Amino acid sequence: MTAANEGVPAPAAGPPVPEQPVAPYLDAVMEYAFRGAARYHVPGHKGGPGADPGVIKAIGADALAADVPQLIHGIDVGPSPTPYERAEAMAAQAFGAARSWFLTNGATQGNHALCLALAPLGSRVVVQRNSHGSVVDGLVLSGGLPSFVIPEYDEELGITHCVTPGALAAALRAAPDASAAFVVSPTYYGMAADIAGLGEVAHEAGVPLVVDQAWGPHFGFHEALPATALAQGADAMLTSTHKVTGSLTQSAMLHVGGSGRIDAESVARVLRLLRSTSPSSLLLASLDGARRQLALHGEQLLHETLEAIAVARAKLETIEGIRLVDSSLVGRAGIAGYDPLRIVIDVRGTGCTGYEVADALRRSYDVQVELPTQATIVLVVGLVESTGALRRLAGDIEETVKRIAKPGATAAIAGTAKMLMGEMAVSPREAFLGEAEVVPVGKAARRISCESIASYPPGVPQLLPGERISPEIVSHLTRLAETGARLYGASDPRFRTIHVLREDG
Ligand SMILES: Cc1ncc(COP(=O)(O)O)c(C=O)c1O
Repeated sequence: MTAANEGVPAPAAGPPVPEQPVAPYLDAVMEYAFRGAARYHVPGHKGGPGADPGVIKAIGADALAADVPQLIHGIDVGPSPTPYERAEAMAAQAFGAARSWFLTNGATQGNHALCLALAPLGSRVVVQRNSHGSVVDGLVLSGGLPSFVIPEYDEELGITHCVTPGALAAALRAAPDASAAFVVSPTYYGMAADIAGLGEVAHEAGVPLVVDQAWGPHFGFHEALPATALAQGADAMLTSTHKVTGSLTQSAMLHVGGSGRIDAESVARVLRLLRSTSPSSLLLASLDGARRQLALHGEQLLHETLEAIAVARAKLETIEGIRLVDSSLVGRAGIAGYDPLRIVIDVRGTGCTGYEVADALRRSYDVQVELPTQATIVLVVGLVESTGALRRLAGDIEETVKRIAKPGATAAIAGTAKMLMGEMAVSPREAFLGEAEVVPVGKAARRISCESIASYPPGVPQLLPGERISPEIVSHLTRLAETGARLYGASDPRFRTIHVLREDG
């Protein structure tokens, strides 16, 4: 048993689950892949022979053999529980959930599903304003209406942290018709929320708490890490298994707890709608394997990686001009915990931006960071990383900083928490599906945005479909685009034009 299971009731329903050392779906797929079955079914490459030689070389013959469709007897068809059903039940057990689902379109698909299940047409939900864009996209699909709760904002670094229970309580009081609360923990910068406090507040208001734990699939599997959101009282959580643990890109999991506040059947129903009829067996099998690895060896692997990270941190702390953004922030409003697998470095003291430091690291050492911002660089460490590699990383950063540092300090591009409070003029669905026109950004102020634009920094979608565009947002996004920030979701990444709702109707 792992830390994630402690104190969590066993899954309420579903087939009996074996101990964690097996991976029933992965094993069943592998058995089928190599037994020489006559494959008169999709996919057309027939387990490899029909594939382009370049594809065979790139993906590998074994992976092609294991690329099988749904409805193969003995994998996901046959006496219940099938290997597929057992695999999902074992994931639920490992993550302390009543029910878990494998997702083949990322945590993105999980947010879409939870919006469809919990925020149907015309209903209201409270949503953390710096949620991933997929939450508002989910509301575009469902027709639900968001009332936003503002996270804590770090003006010094220009980054957002988590929502406090007090802020959630106020948001729920202002939206008494809300049917659910959606929050994020941990953030892109590894800061975790007071989930127990948020759960109490949500439950007092009579709504379920959904936690987007996309960045914390490893939470709960080592005592140095925060517990899972479910173990702290959340009613549902998402884990983007591919982000930190060992499953393939685009694979993730959705977990519902046993509180009964979220009806698992409603979630299963919307997932049937969102799911391809041909989900990738490779993605699904990788989730089954990642769960096994985490459940069996997660604690020890994390232990070794955390030791390696401590070595790197000790070295990084001695480098002039940089500062670690780390556990020293825990206890501030909106920060109840911290993920040591995220190495966040404040580079302002080098006189360079995070973009410049990241660029120099890439050109000199082929070190590729997860995210540069004006004031920081963010590095994501996986479940397995060696001391040698992390020591070398710290050395590369030291050499780079020594070489490129300039006198003076870099100013962060900081907005204000108020900037996150745009006026929601129409529902995200109406704006996204309404008739749009493209206008130069200079003429966009006071118009209603049809786009969701999320910039890094500060990692917050400044503009959502349905929001009225303020002149401050236009100048903030323009400045970010000019300094090299990536504007996710913008139809024009250079932010010269934008889609707005037509006014003439
Ligand atoms: C908080 C959060 N939720 C959800 C997602 C979407 O995850 P995925 O890329 O697995 O679809 C992301 C992606 O970065 C994220 O940061």
